[in-house]
Amino acid sequence: METAARTAPAAVIVAIDGPSGTGKSSTSKAVAAKLGLSYLDTGAQYRAITWWMLTNGVDTADAAAVATASAKPAIVSGTDPSAPTITVDGVDASGPIRTQEVTSKVSAVSAVPEVRTRITELQREIAAGAPEGIVVEGRDIGTTVLPDADLKIFLTASPEARAARRSGETKGADVNATKEALIKRDAADSGRKTSPLAKAADAVEVDTTDLTLDQVIECVVTLVEEKRAGK
Ligand code: DC
Repeated sequence: METAARTAPAAVIVAIDGPSGTGKSSTSKAVAAKLGLSYLDTGAQYRAITWWMLTNGVDTADAAAVATASAKPAIVSGTDPSAPTITVDGVDASGPIRTQEVTSKVSAVSAVPEVRTRITELQREIAAGAPEGIVVEGRDIGTTVLPDADLKIFLTASPEARAARRSGETKGADVNATKEALIKRDAADSGRKTSPLAKAADAVEVDTTDLTLDQVIECVVTLVEEKRAGK
């Protein structure tokens, strides 16, 4: 006999990784909002700890000093995709973490193993506490943070497209300088020893170079719905 009651879909964990300028944040937020999931920007957490180091006089080039200080800041992420928040020691850090100074230092800070251990723990706690499921975006989510994610996406795009998108977001930015900075940061993020930027073996790669944001969102939403249907 057919059962009348339908059970609610189980929590779904979506990992979205890739280098900067591939549309990770816009895609992840929109997919989470459309599907009623939580959203976590893990880059913002690494930026937040970097900002704390800079404002507390820690030399970000000194890995040992960064490691020693890494447990000190209290970093709290709000996971509503329509209004994500981040605070450090109770202070709103959403503006300061986007400065050029933080952007230029974040790769060095996020390469320190103690920093990664600390932030990875926070990420796992947040994902485990999301009742409907969550979209988590970053560099090592599918490989290290949530290797059992239900769906792993790896976004790519040509360096030219990525630089054009990033400089479009920053007033007065020079596309060539942005491209050089992006390539340098990607090399640092991909080349570090502890959980580098990498595509998981079971991730679906989506090249966004010639796609509009809406097309990328549509593509990821369809992949999540297919996963949910098959569960
Ligand atoms: O996504 P973003 O540009 O805000 O990320 C900032 C930096 O944080 C990025 O250069 C590398 C680091 N990062 C990381 O090491 N691991 C993650 N999961 C997310 C970001």
